[in-house]
Amino acid sequence: MPGDKSISHRAAMFAAIADGATKITNFATSVDCASTLSCLSALGVAIEKDGSTVSITGVGKSGLKAFPDPLDCGNSGTTMRLLTGILAGQQFESVLTGDASLQKRPMKRVIAPMEQMGASIGSHDGRAPLVINGDPLAGIEYTPPVASAQIKSCVLLAGLFASGKTSVIEAVPTRDHTERMLAWFGSPLDESDSENGRRLTIDGTKQLTAKDFRVPGDVSSSAFFMVAAACLPGSSLELAGVGLNPSRTAVIDELKKLGAKIDIRNQRTECNEHVGDIVVIGGLENMENENIIRGGVIANLIDEIPILAVFGTQLAGGLEVRDAAELRVKESDRIAAVVENLKRMGGRVTEFDDGFKIERSELHCASIDSFGDHRIAMAFGVARLFAAGETEILDAECAGVSFPGFFETLSSVTT
Ligand code: S3P
Repeated sequence: MPGDKSISHRAAMFAAIADGATKITNFATSVDCASTLSCLSALGVAIEKDGSTVSITGVGKSGLKAFPDPLDCGNSGTTMRLLTGILAGQQFESVLTGDASLQKRPMKRVIAPMEQMGASIGSHDGRAPLVINGDPLAGIEYTPPVASAQIKSCVLLAGLFASGKTSVIEAVPTRDHTERMLAWFGSPLDESDSENGRRLTIDGTKQLTAKDFRVPGDVSSSAFFMVAAACLPGSSLELAGVGLNPSRTAVIDELKKLGAKIDIRNQRTECNEHVGDIVVIGGLENMENENIIRGGVIANLIDEIPILAVFGTQLAGGLEVRDAAELRVKESDRIAAVVENLKRMGGRVTEFDDGFKIERSELHCASIDSFGDHRIAMAFGVARLFAAGETEILDAECAGVSFPGFFETLSSVTT
């Protein structure tokens, strides 16, 4: 599997503002992570790339340089929201922009805490392009209104450049790569309990120290292969060296609960992240009970919901997903995209504001619209395996946003 996208973004950004040189191995090949690297190099960071090895010479906390043109984050929400935190703390103006999809996505969620800290950010009613004027920042205590690792990370990164202490209170835990990586780069957060959840605190005096980092395989990319192998009887597939951070593995727990035969082997810790090998055996233990995924767990499998929807079509009891309205503001409206495409393939599906209900369905070939969204293209690349005939996927190459070569890799393990 390619290197984890979330972790690669963070490794590049943290290495850029650390003191010293960091070599990152198994860096994600995704187009999104290339956007992060090109923004960082525009900001004056020396970066060398050799395949999936990236060497970054950190400029320290005060070494970033102004860039006169808009910085292009492409399709990548993580690039835009995390860089907003870093750039809010600089004493110069920056503009962050992105492609048509990114310019539609909600940015008020990061603008609001940055303004509370003292930054001024211009936008088109909360959408990119964002004009970020780095002003001196002061620490705040912030409770994000939606469960989002991107908001949490934006505020903590800004906190590195703020006077005093900055805290984020998380009512619903989200992926904790930022916390783990801050510790790896020598500046662990303080953690304490609060009435409303876990309080994470960073001290603005902290410096980061360069330290080589190995990125584990991407568990979100692995989910497509887990579903394909689990649903095709006779399969046997091993995915080696995949990131198994507990805040990301809810998808594995759910797949197992829903009847998939998945085994985890060779568990270890590398660079503060859990890693292991995933073994999947084909053939579902077909349980008739009705299945529903909802509540706090949604934040921990948000990126895997499109492929879980496809999985739902193969389950005797179907699958209902609720409390997932966040899917409507991802790279596409993923609730609408999943429902539309499953219907095109003959799926029996009901749409809700915050999710959908899928009944076991005999899928047939169809023309699929990826809506330019990588995870929709890949989810239906797997659905195609369950349908007789030729299914075409429009704009399938957008899969490269997280997984260049996805379709080739999938055909290399299917017959
Ligand atoms: C990400 C967090 C999630 C996820 C995205 C990557 C991250 O977004 O959907 O693909 O790397 O922090 P939110 O934080 O907006 O939920």
